[in-house]
Amino acid sequence: MTSQEAFESRGPSSAGSARQRFLVDVIEGLGAPRKTLSPKWFYDRAGSLLFDAICELPEYYVTRTELGIVKSHAREIVAHWGDRVRLVEPGAGSSTKTTLLLEELGPTRCSAYVPVDIAREHLAATAARLRTEIEWLRVLSAAADFTVELPLPPNDDNARTVVYFPGSTIGNFEPHDAERLLARFGRAAGKNGLVVLGVDLKKDPAILHAAYNDAQGVTGQFNKNVLARMNRELDANIDLGSFAHYAFYEPTHGRIEMHLVSRKRQMITIAGRRFHFREGESIRTEYSYKYDLPRSNTSRARLAFRWSTPGSTTTSTSRSSSFACTELPRLRRPLALSKSVAYGKRRFSSMHRTE
Ligand code: TRP
Repeated sequence: MTSQEAFESRGPSSAGSARQRFLVDVIEGLGAPRKTLSPKWFYDRAGSLLFDAICELPEYYVTRTELGIVKSHAREIVAHWGDRVRLVEPGAGSSTKTTLLLEELGPTRCSAYVPVDIAREHLAATAARLRTEIEWLRVLSAAADFTVELPLPPNDDNARTVVYFPGSTIGNFEPHDAERLLARFGRAAGKNGLVVLGVDLKKDPAILHAAYNDAQGVTGQFNKNVLARMNRELDANIDLGSFAHYAFYEPTHGRIEMHLVSRKRQMITIAGRRFHFREGESIRTEYSYKYDLPRSNTSRARLAFRWSTPGSTTTSTSRSSSFACTELPRLRRPLALSKSVAYGKRRFSSMHRTE
């Protein structure tokens, strides 16, 4: 076994234990007085493919906008990453946006690409595709739940670790968890490392609403995939038609909320356990927090929003397409994402959400 294979096949994510974790989470989430399910369970192979379809939807501006930023600023973005870089991407999915950055780095500067994703099969397909697309690329994939661990392969050539976290995945965490997660990424990146973050910004609620309620119903299918997956993997008997996709913007917290609402009073069975639903009762499946651009114009804030969109992307596309791509240099301390971003002892009031 090569060290690459050893790294890729490691970890606790064997099929049996993954099912067990899914089951434990479902039992806990649906047993709570307000039912919830963690968004990470959306992502099996089918869910990952549905998510790719979301990224192509006319209403879902996030991926396009971010891609626009990365395309027009790729050189600038990687310019000061150093001579030798390993790019780590938690929740990499299909890694579509990342190839631009990898190509910009090129074989001399790119030591390895480490996509980390909970969807093992999908990740394997992505890794295989990348290896043929970019011949020189060393792909060291890790099937893992990045909310639990961020496995890193041995850094044999002392490359700088850049944790790349695009797609506004950070928005899917509640502020406190988002702060902890970024601080952990910062620690994983190490002393000379970087965390590069893409966040979706607040905008006209009608635009936000459309993005999570597309006309073709793909987002609804994606949302219901978690139920379909319970039928497939947890021996559940859920009638998908008896739940409705319901997503809306909640301005007080500045977040999209995604729910599955029971259309009727019913009981469902999952691995022999029963769960009761009132008519209209919901399972909250996801939050997507939207952030504000920095108001402060200090140099730290500008640094944080080096590639932020005002003026460029926002005007070149439309008001709907605000998205910020930001770099948090050597981020080791806990952050206060909800109010301001702290870096070491310095604080700068960028990326705060106003509540
Ligand atoms: N993190 C992105 C967002 O919140 C992408 C995403 C995750 C998403 N789950 C989704 C998009 C469900 C649409 C629907 O926007």
